[in-house]
Order: sequence, then structure tokens, then C-alpha cells
Amino acid sequence: MTRKPIIAANWKMYKTHTDAIQYAQKLNYVVDEKQYQRSEIVLCAPFTDLRTLQTLFDADHMFLRLGAQDTYWEDSGAYTGEVSPVMLRALDVDNVIIGHSERRQYFHESDSDVHKKLLAVLTHGMGPILCIGESEEIRIGGAQAAQEFVVRQLLAATVGLSADQAQRITVAYEPIWAIGTGEHATPEDAQSMAASIRSALEARFGSDAAEGVRIQYGGSVTSGNIESFMNKKDIDGALVGGASLDPQEFARIVSSW
Ligand code: PGA
Repeated sequence: MTRKPIIAANWKMYKTHTDAIQYAQKLNYVVDEKQYQRSEIVLCAPFTDLRTLQTLFDADHMFLRLGAQDTYWEDSGAYTGEVSPVMLRALDVDNVIIGHSERRQYFHESDSDVHKKLLAVLTHGMGPILCIGESEEIRIGGAQAAQEFVVRQLLAATVGLSADQAQRITVAYEPIWAIGTGEHATPEDAQSMAASIRSALEARFGSDAAEGVRIQYGGSVTSGNIESFMNKKDIDGALVGGASLDPQEFARIVSSW
């Protein structure tokens, strides 16, 4: 099966809606059609930028895809401050990051919250980007301990899903110690983790579903190292934080493999 690569920018809490316009215009100016054809290029922007980007992509016929960085799991209700998957879908959001380590760490998201969010995104026809990854402490314990931890996170998030649903997930393997540190996993370690993720998916959902799931590497990805990850058999994309904030660098990332 051929999996279409997916390169996603995770802007985190950066960029106002006016910054977002300038960024998207600059990016779109330098990314050529070939790049849009060979991969999905997603901007995961703050909620306050989404309507602006939706309007811009539409008006200027951009092939960029729109992503959010989180969602609540209920469709509506008395949940002050939350944003629902129905609201995201209404803005033509394609992808939603779920369970990013910063949300798990700073906002105490549990595996069960992550599971409910994942299911909500799938139910509303969007593509979740499910983030999983081990801490430095776990990695020091060895590759086996890291794989067990990551597979446990994957299984907790995907409990009870159908094979059809599972197939629509993008999994982002992001070792926490590599996020925003300038230190990245070796491509060999990332590939070996991606292979464990795919085999855990196969055991639960069957080989067709597992072969369809796209697996990204994330953690200090730049234009200088993306190719070494994209060359790996089980790696189908990247989730890019810091290096995605500059449209020129992000354009190089999407074209440097
Ligand atoms: P980074 O962040 O590229 O800055 O390491 C990745 C992420 O948090 O998704």
C-alpha cells in the first residue's frame, strides 16, 4: 500500500491571525504544485487563526490543509473555554493534533482524555494526529522500555476503535526529550519505533489497517535532517514545531526529501 506522506507544522502558541495570513502567503508562494501532490502539507494553527486561514486557503485556492492543535470531545455544552470538534469541522479543519506531550504535561491530559478526543475527531470526519513518545527518563532505561511505553500509549488511545477508524489515524512518534531541544532521535531509532507502532496496530486492527496508518517522526525536525527520517520505510511524514515557524524554513522542509 502506498501512504501519502503528511508534513505538519505545529505552531503551538505562536502567531496571531494576521501573522498567519503573511505566513501562509509566503509559504504558498514558494511551495510548488509538485510538493502538494506528493504530500499533504498541514498548518496546525491556534484556534484564533483557523477562520482566517480557512478563508484565505479558499479565496486563494491554496492546497494547504488546515489543522488544529487540540479539541474537546463533547459536541457542545457548558464547558467554558473549550472548542468542540463540530466547531472545527465547520471551519473545514482537516487534521487535529491529539495528546501532544505539552498537553499531557502542562494540562494533565490522561490516556483516557486522549482516547475520547481521538474518537471525537474520527467521528466528525477529521484526521487525528495522535502524539505518543517517551520521556528522557524512560529512554535512558533502553530502547525496549521506550517501545513498551510508546505502544502502551498507542493501545490506550485506540481502545475500542474499528479497523476503519484506526486506518484514518496519523501517529506522530515524538520522543519528549527531542521536542524543542535541537536533539533528535537517530533515524534508525525512529524507524525502529515506527515499526513497533505498526506491528502493535497490526496485532489489534489487522494488516490492512496497519499498512494504511501514517507514522510521523517529530522532535527537532529541520530541513537539514528531514530526509534521513523520510527515507525510512515506516516513516511517512513529520510533525514540526520550532522549525515550522519560519515559512522559508518550512518550505525547505517540505521540499528537502
Ligand atoms: P520541535 O517540536 O520540532 O520544536 O521539536 C515538535 C512538536 O512539538 O511537535
